[in-house]
Amino acid sequence: MFAGIARRYDLLNHLLSANIDRRWRRLVADKLRPALVAGTHTLDVACGTGDLALTLSEAGQARVTGLDFCRPMLEVATRKAQERKRNIPFIEADALRLPFAPETFDVVTIAFGLRNLASVEGGLRELFRVLRPGGQIAILEFSRPVVPGFRALFQFYFSHVLPRIGGLVSGSRGAYEYLPDSVSRFPDQKRLAELMREVGFAEVSYQNLTGGIAALHLGTRPRPSD
Ligand SMILES: C[S@@+](CC[C@H](N)C(=O)[O-])C[C@H]1O[C@@H](n2cnc3c(N)ncnc32)[C@H](O)[C@@H]1O
Repeated sequence: MFAGIARRYDLLNHLLSANIDRRWRRLVADKLRPALVAGTHTLDVACGTGDLALTLSEAGQARVTGLDFCRPMLEVATRKAQERKRNIPFIEADALRLPFAPETFDVVTIAFGLRNLASVEGGLRELFRVLRPGGQIAILEFSRPVVPGFRALFQFYFSHVLPRIGGLVSGSRGAYEYLPDSVSRFPDQKRLAELMREVGFAEVSYQNLTGGIAALHLGTRPRPSD
């Protein structure tokens, strides 16, 4: 499905969100900026066309690696990194079986990816495994708008308008019908925070973005002494 929409993915992201997606990714980089220092290594999982990996790479001195299991998405990401002169390795692999030793990364991120995994808990456990103690996680994902009237309005847009535009521009209406379906099955902001704690993350907090259309969850992997 992602291979089928890779070429139009960025255009549709920016169009369907009125460019708000860029602001959300910049916020992730702003929150993580103190950790994106020279000598550290960040992994962006389910990186798609690389927008978050690029934003993180441009926000600091950290080494950034992107990972996704969809080659056409990674091809777009690689081209963009070359154009922007960023040295970001993009690795083709499964987020549920990350090809890294435990405690490899100082920061792990996943944007609009966790929802797509066969197991949200399994994905969180893998992210926890590869994060070093004291390291930070950031999860950017669609969530549940908090104000009822706005929620109903957004739901109409998301379920009826977006699949039509997405289908017309990408040629794959199914992919843009899958989007609201997958969001409706995904845990809301409070439940995702609970799941993060259950997997072992500490200092878990979240921030609603654009009325809760999306949420940014942050956490850390505790040190043994914590
Ligand atoms: C909605 S896109 C998000 C891409 C990017 N992070 C962004 O913010 O635009 C979801 C991405 O998750 C990837 N993905 C889904 N399941 C995956 C898995 N099990 N392992 C690796 N990547 C996966 C897809 O290939 C796709 O590129």
